[in-house]
Amino acid sequence: MSKSNSTPLPDVIQGGMGIAVSTWQLAKEVSRNGGLGVVSATALDSVIARRLQDGDLSGDIRRAFKDFPNQNIANEVLNFYFVEGGRAPGKPYLDVPKLSLKPSKLTTNLLIISAFTEVWLAKERNDGLIGINALEKIQLATPATIFGAMLAGVDYVLMGAGIPTQIPEMIRYFVDQKPFRLNIDVTDSKSQHFLAFDPASIVADSIVLARPKFLAIISSHALAAYLAKDEKTRPDGFIVEGSTAGGHNAPPRSKDAIGADGQSKFSILDEADLVKVAKTGLPFWLAGGYGTPANLKLAKELGAVGIQVGSLFALADESGFTNEIKSELLQRLNQGTLSIRTDPFASPTGFPFKIVEITGTLSQPENFDERSRNCDLGYLRTPFERPQGGIGYRCPGEPIKTFEFKGGNSENNISSKCLCNALMADIGLGQIRVDGSTELPLVTLGSDLAGANQLSVKYPKGWKAIQVLEYLRGA
Ligand SMILES: Cc1cc2nc3c(=O)[nH]c(=O)nc-3n(C[C@H](O)[C@H](O)[C@H](O)COP(=O)(O)O)c2cc1C
Repeated sequence: MSKSNSTPLPDVIQGGMGIAVSTWQLAKEVSRNGGLGVVSATALDSVIARRLQDGDLSGDIRRAFKDFPNQNIANEVLNFYFVEGGRAPGKPYLDVPKLSLKPSKLTTNLLIISAFTEVWLAKERNDGLIGINALEKIQLATPATIFGAMLAGVDYVLMGAGIPTQIPEMIRYFVDQKPFRLNIDVTDSKSQHFLAFDPASIVADSIVLARPKFLAIISSHALAAYLAKDEKTRPDGFIVEGSTAGGHNAPPRSKDAIGADGQSKFSILDEADLVKVAKTGLPFWLAGGYGTPANLKLAKELGAVGIQVGSLFALADESGFTNEIKSELLQRLNQGTLSIRTDPFASPTGFPFKIVEITGTLSQPENFDERSRNCDLGYLRTPFERPQGGIGYRCPGEPIKTFEFKGGNSENNISSKCLCNALMADIGLGQIRVDGSTELPLVTLGSDLAGANQLSVKYPKGWKAIQVLEYLRGA
């Protein structure tokens, strides 16, 4: 059960890095050593479905499934995706159904049991704190994912990439096992749309669910004040994330937001006023280049409880990045040749996205040009109302003609990359295409490498999560 109310607030939060860079193994190590270990919820249904198709050789997933409160669902998912001994070589993965406003039972069940499994494994034989990180942009996965994580006793829910006004209330409804309707943003629609979720459809008997704490990931003090002012939207705390953070960044606020080098350009306008954040009276953590002992100290001096750290943990042994990616990153770090850009257009979300420029990935224009665009995972699709009525879904990463046919403005989508497929490839779960090729990765990391540089001097061959914590705490 959740311990977030009885345990002191953690000094270090390990960022929830998608897709499955923040594995349950990484979160567990951080949590066992006094930090908040966070698993990533992004595309977790595909991750679990693909791990099952790879045979679940360690048996971890099936062990967690045995503890899932609805065994019909566990068996249904196993029957669908589990392949004894793993797929035949070269066989493509069976995809999971795409998210929608009217999801199939399998879609919802898979989301729930996947979040349950990742949290359950992180918490197995572990007394520490575990959180789950979800993206507000992927609204259609939110209720089932959070409920699944709560069934496994998740201690914290963290959410960024949007304005998470509905989540505190949704969590309260789920504690009481009451049905909840999440309002869904539908482009070009004048009517209200919602995704209904009823906990009773999953667990018939009443069970005790503890309320996890909710942390909103924000980049502006105005948003902190807005969320804090109403009980309905008030989180339990904030992660204040700056523009050097890995993954997505909040769009720059200045008008001339693209520099001569083609990167998103951030300014003083993008820095949150921490005095105003503190005025909300809620605890907060600082993220984005704070992963050094000096910056942990500085964060506390600035009124924060501690820091959220991503990149140092993404490079740790327990992260989900493939060994090839990790060793390439570490080698470049040691040589001082690790180059990271903030690309304004790469992400279909429209948010700037940090990209590591390395060979064999979509960061290279020739690899990007060679890939046939398709959208078969679809997590970043957004719903829109068709002129003739009815709801459609589109993503700037899909084929340009398809996107335009669906009414999408293709002005900026020429260089939109399929993050879903690329990020699955980063963790060794890339899809195999009909021509026998495998989807290429696209790697993200924070652009402030001060901490990583210091650690790479100490541990040139790589480090473990516990060594990151020891380093940050000056042990
Ligand atoms: C590989 C990678 C993936 C990330 N993915 C996510 C994500 O899915 N959701 C999120 O809220 N933050 C994500 N982040 C941001 C981190 O959680 C963290 O806030 C950030 O990296 C902190 O900055 P630092 O990298 O300088 O420590 C990601 C960061 C990295 C390095």
